[in-house]
Amino acid sequence: MSDNLKRAAAERAAQLVTDGMRLGLGTGSTAAHFVAVIGERVRGGLKVVGVPTSEATREQAQREGIPLATLDEMPELDLTVDGADELDDDLRLVKGGGGALLREKIVASASARMVVIADGSKRVAKLGKFPLPIEVVPFGLTATERAIGKLLESLSMKGELRLRRAADGAPYVTDGGHFILDAHLGRIDKPNVLASTLNNIPGVVEHGLFIGLASGAILATGEGLVELGQ
Ligand code: 5RP
Repeated sequence: MSDNLKRAAAERAAQLVTDGMRLGLGTGSTAAHFVAVIGERVRGGLKVVGVPTSEATREQAQREGIPLATLDEMPELDLTVDGADELDDDLRLVKGGGGALLREKIVASASARMVVIADGSKRVAKLGKFPLPIEVVPFGLTATERAIGKLLESLSMKGELRLRRAADGAPYVTDGGHFILDAHLGRIDKPNVLASTLNNIPGVVEHGLFIGLASGAILATGEGLVELGQ
């Protein structure tokens, strides 16, 4: 998706923002456009406070001059705008391609409303083509990996778990100090079941299935913007 389209989706989402709002600021290349647009509006007089979902977004928002708070200082938010790696027509999402899924999910859960901005190609009939990120604690990685494998088997799902690595080959470490296992599943027939059972495995911190969190989506396509939900 061209930067122009990402920017158009971000600008449409920014129209939802009014003075006094407490905003969750997402992570990724599409969310970065939203942060940039909000930065411009703040410099033009808009009064908002943002809670970033990653250190990268915090740095960008600081550069943009957006007043920031922690989620502890401001535990209830009006609106979060964030990207996604996949979404279906029930507004169920796969997120975490950028590694920020844990903070993204905590921030989205603390928000009255979450709106997704994404490339139209991320809208899918069935989730799972994009590898599902599963954030795990480094301690007992192999045992956790085996437990996830057993769970997938019990759900009749086949898939390879790959430890995400940084450019230097070392395990990728999240802002929370955890690792990520990317589950290459191909398709997820029952996302709700997988989402709730994954959370029962000790060692799993969080996963990238966002269910019941997004209330709307703004999708940028070559033909223009498509809006889902509200
Ligand atoms: C980060 C995310 C991102 O929102 C997701 O990866 C989409 O990123 P982009 O807008 O760059 O395609 O979940 O953890």
